[in-house]
Amino acid sequence: MSTHNTFRRITTKSLYLLKQKGKKISALTAYDYLTAQILDQAGIDLILVGDSLGNVFQGNDTTLSVTLDEMIYHTKAVSRAVTRAMVVADMPFMTYQTSPNEAFRNAGRIMKETAAGGVKIEGGEIMAETVKKITENGIPVMAHIGLMPQSIHKFGGYAERGKTDEEALQIKKDALVLQEAGAFAVVVEKVPAGLAKEISESLDIPTIGIGGGAHCDGQILVTPDMLGLNVEFHPRFVRHYAKLAQTINAAVSSYINDVVKGQFPTEEESY
Ligand code: KIV
Repeated sequence: MSTHNTFRRITTKSLYLLKQKGKKISALTAYDYLTAQILDQAGIDLILVGDSLGNVFQGNDTTLSVTLDEMIYHTKAVSRAVTRAMVVADMPFMTYQTSPNEAFRNAGRIMKETAAGGVKIEGGEIMAETVKKITENGIPVMAHIGLMPQSIHKFGGYAERGKTDEEALQIKKDALVLQEAGAFAVVVEKVPAGLAKEISESLDIPTIGIGGGAHCDGQILVTPDMLGLNVEFHPRFVRHYAKLAQTINAAVSSYINDVVKGQFPTEEESY
């Protein structure tokens, strides 16, 4: 159990008010203490401990193997660093789909053990009962619709969702039903910008887009992607704000060179 004071952090209410005032919400992912500290000090509104850690931290092809204990481990590290941002932890595959009670029990573990401010679950209308159960018992839930990486085997790939009228209608319905069930925000992933705009306009709660265009109420990216650490992954919705892979490569090459040539450490760097 964390002993950190989390009362000064951004809350679901602050995010709701940002939308009402027409102000955009900034969100990024983090999986470790130092990154979370940098994001928080830079002024990010929401930090998601995403199960994308299965890809970018663990090197897996999908997020499916991520466990609840792993999410708790990473969320604890992130939470220790954060004083201002809202911290949300992803519920991993098979920790909330089996029943609302099971979902509530597992969401409760996250809240008790990590000092997160809420959990995120993937799924549309089908998750309404679960969202209701968790939120009615005091745990904020961020929903996630459109492309849902935990359903990747059902979708058959990471292609854009909501391109057919039928699918677009279902996604719009999903958003409304999840708001009704008590979700405080909804991540809208990889859908046409026009559809994300319609959803954003139809909801009181904020939409957080990733590949959802400019009309979402906020934006989220996977931090290693936007920092240019994950060079092999560059879909069009990711903007590189830095080239950290190159920066790290150059720094490590200099270090190797200095060590090999006996130029590190110097006397001043020794005891
Ligand atoms: O797992 C994750 O990082 C996510 C974001 C991409 C929204 O779900």
